Amino acid sequence: MILISGATGNVGGELLRQLHAEGTAVRALTRDPSRARFPAGVDVAEGDFGAPESLAEAFSGAESAFLMMSSNQTAVLREAARAGVRRIVLLSTMAVETRPESLIGRLHLEAERAVTESGLEWTFLRPGQFASNTRAWRAQIAAGDVIRTPFPRVGLPAVHTGDIASVARTALTREGHAGAAYSLTGPEPVTPVEQVAAIGRAIGRELRHEEITAERAAEEMAAHMPPEIVAATLEFVGSPTEAETRAQPTVEKVTGEPARTFAEWARDNADSFR
Ligand SMILES: NC(=O)c1ccc[n+]([C@@H]2O[C@H](COP(=O)([O-])OP(=O)(O)OC[C@H]3O[C@@H](n4cnc5c(N)ncnc54)[C@H](OP(=O)(O)O)[C@@H]3O)[C@@H](O)[C@H]2O)c1
Repeated sequence: MILISGATGNVGGELLRQLHAEGTAVRALTRDPSRARFPAGVDVAEGDFGAPESLAEAFSGAESAFLMMSSNQTAVLREAARAGVRRIVLLSTMAVETRPESLIGRLHLEAERAVTESGLEWTFLRPGQFASNTRAWRAQIAAGDVIRTPFPRVGLPAVHTGDIASVARTALTREGHAGAAYSLTGPEPVTPVEQVAAIGRAIGRELRHEEITAERAAEEMAAHMPPEIVAATLEFVGSPTEAETRAQPTVEKVTGEPARTFAEWARDNADSFR
């Protein structure tokens, strides 16, 4: 049995579907089972990283777990170890390598440190920008054909969340990934202008990109994000380091399948924009 946290989210949701489809026993963790929708036959557990003791039942009988980063990481891992979990795959971030001093880098480094100190077998996934971040454009796409973002021509190798899930599935179900930290990206840099065009093609509409300033974007993001996360996110997408713009070969090396393009992600997720 594999416990999957973030099972209602982008990566955990895809991981759950992949493992369930290949017949592996999985249990989905969510804070609110009444709102979550999972495939028939999936075991569901209620639990919250904020209250680690609530995870005892979720971890019970699981030999491995896919964990999202939590500020309570040490206590979460203690519950896992107590229940007999032996292997952890942690969803971390490339920022631990490229921006270790940033807030996002520091929080994830602390979580990674807690994992290495837990004594459990571990694999770290360190993705760069997710293709699924463009879901933030859904309201604009529903309202019209113009998508407004800053930094229209800054390209990042956005990673298909299904590819992050495939690497997680491999690390959870095959030997040889213990102690590995995988930087994960898509196959090529893609700019916001190109992402808008790809989503337009995927849903059969002529979408247009319009540039706004970083200040204007920050004001809009501040409505649903803490200011330090807004600043960190804009820094990430506006002033990437050389390493953050470079496509990594890791997805193919680990899974044997080439990393999927942003256009493929847009086609695979077209329904979420309709
Ligand atoms: N977005 C990026 O570009 C990027 C880049 C690098 C790394 N990352 C990493 O990826 C993470 C986001 O992954 P994602 O997009 O797959 O997630 P997501 O779609 O944002 O979903 C968040 C998931 O976390 C679960 N969750 C939130 N708080 C929880 C808590 N207190 N206890 C238990 N579960 C909790 C939610 O479950 P319920 O609501 O069902 O409880 C939900 O399934 C980031 O936090 C970061 O660590 C992101």
